[in-house]
Amino acid sequence: MANLVVIGAQWGDEGKGKFVDLLSEEADVVVRFGGGNNAGHTLVVQGNRLVLHLIPSGVLQPRTQVVLGDGMVVDPACLLEEMDHLQQAGIDLGPRDLLLGSKAHLILPHHRQLDALREGGPGALGTTRRGVGPAYEDKAARRGIRALDLLRPERLERLVVASVAQASKRIELLGGTPVDGGALMEQLRQQATRLGPHIVDVSLLLHEAASSGRRILFEGAQGVLLDLDHGTYPFVTSSTTLAGGACAGAGFAPHLIDGVVGVAKAYVTRVGDGPFPSELTGVVGEDLRRKGGEFGSTTGRPRRCGWLDLVALRYAVRVGGIRRLAMTKLDVLGDLGALQVCVAYDVGGRRVEHFPCDPDDLARAQPVLEPVEGFIGDISRATAFGELPRAAREYVERVERECGLPVEWVSVGPGREQTLIRRAQSL
Ligand code: GDP
Ligand code: IMO
Ligand code: MG
Repeated sequence: MANLVVIGAQWGDEGKGKFVDLLSEEADVVVRFGGGNNAGHTLVVQGNRLVLHLIPSGVLQPRTQVVLGDGMVVDPACLLEEMDHLQQAGIDLGPRDLLLGSKAHLILPHHRQLDALREGGPGALGTTRRGVGPAYEDKAARRGIRALDLLRPERLERLVVASVAQASKRIELLGGTPVDGGALMEQLRQQATRLGPHIVDVSLLLHEAASSGRRILFEGAQGVLLDLDHGTYPFVTSSTTLAGGACAGAGFAPHLIDGVVGVAKAYVTRVGDGPFPSELTGVVGEDLRRKGGEFGSTTGRPRRCGWLDLVALRYAVRVGGIRRLAMTKLDVLGDLGALQVCVAYDVGGRRVEHFPCDPDDLARAQPVLEPVEGFIGDISRATAFGELPRAAREYVERVERECGLPVEWVSVGPGREQTLIRRAQSL
């Protein structure tokens, strides 16, 4: 493995955590580059389940450094909680093991409060209410507070006073009670003492790592269809989820990236509001949810489920910059009866094969579905692709043809060992 980027190719929760954990065996550094604790990445190792929200999924590899890049928004309370949780599990993260980008923006209590207040009213988007959107708003408005400010108490105080005053006006308008700036400052001082030694210049660290031949793995959060620019706006997150986001968010040169892996489920899920053309609202959707355990890792919300959407996947490959695919949860499709895949949309009587940009077109897009042969039996114990039933193999090969890319990994269960590694196919 050289320097690889792993991103989600759908609306998040594709199984990125599982793949990053797996691939990080060969990585020296694993870096998150965007988003915050809106993410929930699940690792299952020897039957033990661990959900990470901020800390990169390479954390279980003993010699791998984990880095929270500058493009992230980091809630210091959440980060410390996650570090404590890992410490209780026997994973002690010292200042050389976990690094926090000095330019990463902080999520503070008023960001969480604003997110929740807005979600309680009209225009709710179904966010995770972790304060991610409001923190990125402050960043874009150039009034954010960054990790490096934690190291300068006087500047920090000035910035916190201004930030709280600014947010308080909006909080009051929405009927909330403004946060206590004094108590927040005290909290930040304590958090700064613990986090200070972890704060570094990430771009420099990665540059030096790459120059000395160390291998870097970039862990995406969310998925291409939740990207702020290219996702299903306004039902998106507030950051860049594409492979290009790794360079911007980590301060890393594009020419040093050797590959981009897109992770896609064998079907599609979405948590939160917004268009979802291949959604299954009936009994098949419920079967997928139950069999696939489709409940949010961050909020516990039931995930909406649907057939694999090849229109959306081809789009994700294009805008996301994906060169290799990993397909997860193929096991969930076993014993489901006849399967279908979405090959195009019908938009007002017109057949559309490219993912529409216009939200109205997307909202009224009806899926053009094609039947696909289903397969019988539990495939979760398969150890090689060739052991899968013919129809399951053909399902994977169909996706390769449609996307023009190899599906190099097929996952048949949440465990590390439940991964079938294939050699790159020539297409
Ligand atoms: P992420 O946000 O992309 O890391 O994905 P999540 O962790 O939120 O959700 C993926 C869920 O599917 C987790 O509970 C994983 O343990 C589970 N999972 C991953 N791959 C497979 C698979 O191939 N089969 C099954 N049944 N579960 C899987
Ligand atoms: P991982 O990394 C799935 C969704 C929310 C909502 C929208 C905006 O685990 O794949 P936000 O809180 O970001 O302002 O919410 O984005 N969302 C995710 N959905 N997986 C995620 O992360 C998500 N992170 C945000 O549900 O629709
Ligand atoms: Mg998730």
